[in-house]
Amino acid sequence: MPTRKTHAGSVGTKSGRRSSLTVHDNRTGRDYEIPIERGAVRALDLRRAKASDADFGLLSYDPSFQNTAACKSGITFIDGEAGILRYRGYPIEELAGRKSYLEVSYLLIYGHLPGRSELANWLHNITYHTMVHENVKKFMDGFHHDAHPMGMVVSTLAALSTFYPEAKQVGDREIRQRQIYRLVGKIPTIAAFAYRHSLGMAYIYPDNELSYTANFLAMMYRPSWTARYDSDPVLSKALDTMFVLHADHEQNCSTSTMRTVGSARSDPYVSSAAAAAALYGPLHGGANEQVVQMLQEIGTKDNVPKLIRQVKAGKRRLMGFGHRVYKSYDPRAKIIKEAADSVFSTTGKNRLIDVALALEKVALSDDYFIKRRLYPNVDFYSGMVYQAMGFPTDIFPVLFAIPRMSGWLAHWQEMLLDEEQKIIRPRQIYTGSRERHVPDQET
Ligand code: CMC
Repeated sequence: MPTRKTHAGSVGTKSGRRSSLTVHDNRTGRDYEIPIERGAVRALDLRRAKASDADFGLLSYDPSFQNTAACKSGITFIDGEAGILRYRGYPIEELAGRKSYLEVSYLLIYGHLPGRSELANWLHNITYHTMVHENVKKFMDGFHHDAHPMGMVVSTLAALSTFYPEAKQVGDREIRQRQIYRLVGKIPTIAAFAYRHSLGMAYIYPDNELSYTANFLAMMYRPSWTARYDSDPVLSKALDTMFVLHADHEQNCSTSTMRTVGSARSDPYVSSAAAAAALYGPLHGGANEQVVQMLQEIGTKDNVPKLIRQVKAGKRRLMGFGHRVYKSYDPRAKIIKEAADSVFSTTGKNRLIDVALALEKVALSDDYFIKRRLYPNVDFYSGMVYQAMGFPTDIFPVLFAIPRMSGWLAHWQEMLLDEEQKIIRPRQIYTGSRERHVPDQET
């Protein structure tokens, strides 16, 4: 009987075949039986293979963790071959557009979709934690006028640690809970303040009567506190969908950073600041900004072949293409492409979309991209949607960070409650000098 397969891998057989790996060590002639659990072997089991008694034992070498599961997680499932993404078991296609971002945020953090009273409580708690201390404003005033908004968000998240010293008690469930409300509630306020600061405009306080995204748009665009601002419901809904799509993506670079820093029992403010710093990078959440810059540089469809030539010559990367996990179309990119239509029907078409479609068409039929299985990722279309909505390009990574806060917090909490997890501390293979000695000083 064939081995029974689940998405998690081999779970053994009914025929009594062992779910294990036999490793023969040619150095010693010894065999080791290593159990396979959920499609994985434990790296520590390899330690049993020693070349001699004095040997430390075999290490597994996996630069950039391309084939290492660092934890067990019940939050997000991705099948990169099949282009599947599920939060807590729910396909992203069913959540996007049907569940609000805050419902999805609750789902990620608590493991189930909220019932009516759970949702009412959650919305109340998030809404009543959107304000920031007045000193945060003063602190943000200190940034240079042309500071990148993501730099301001990273620093301000870290600064919140100094306002809530109780957050250090990461083992206390209630205290953890309060910080979750604060971080999900305050990140749009900080993001909008960063934007207003860059324009030299007065900060707009949160309005508790508005939805999460309508409130964010109001804090961004309301001309003044006394002026009226009604965000377009099509746009606040589309932004909410974008937030759903960006809320989590299992062990990506920023989430792994959140887990790593959190594993030292650092508080969630400095941990999420570190995660946001990782997200800021152009290979991660900074890619959406880079995509728009790249499309603007291409300018017209006629210039697409030139860019493709440069990419194939290894001179640059096609931003918004490729993914460590997805080796077929990123399901989020598909949904965004569809959502773009509703945005463009309100805002008018982003002229860059034609360049993007031409670029996608050429890339998807080119051997270079086919061979390397490079497809558009979430960032390829999100920038164009954000641009059509009137957001400046440097705020794009911030628009990624706002919803990703839910994923970071869900993973942070899961890591803290996982008894198998310890402080994260990888090993290395030392390639430096052997012991050497400082020469005696010449007289
Ligand atoms: N353009 C051109 N070539 C590429 C690209 C690209 N965007 N991405 C990968 N390649 C090539 C790469 O040069 C390499 O070729 P070769 O085998 O000849 O050396 C091969 O494909 C494998 O690339 P890799 O760098 O080993 O792949 P990775 O899994 O380490 O990197 C990635 C994944 C997302 C960092 C990378 O695809 C990339 O840099 N993409 C552009 C930036 C981007 O769009 N990032 C957003 C990711 S999705 C949002 C998020 O989760 O942050």
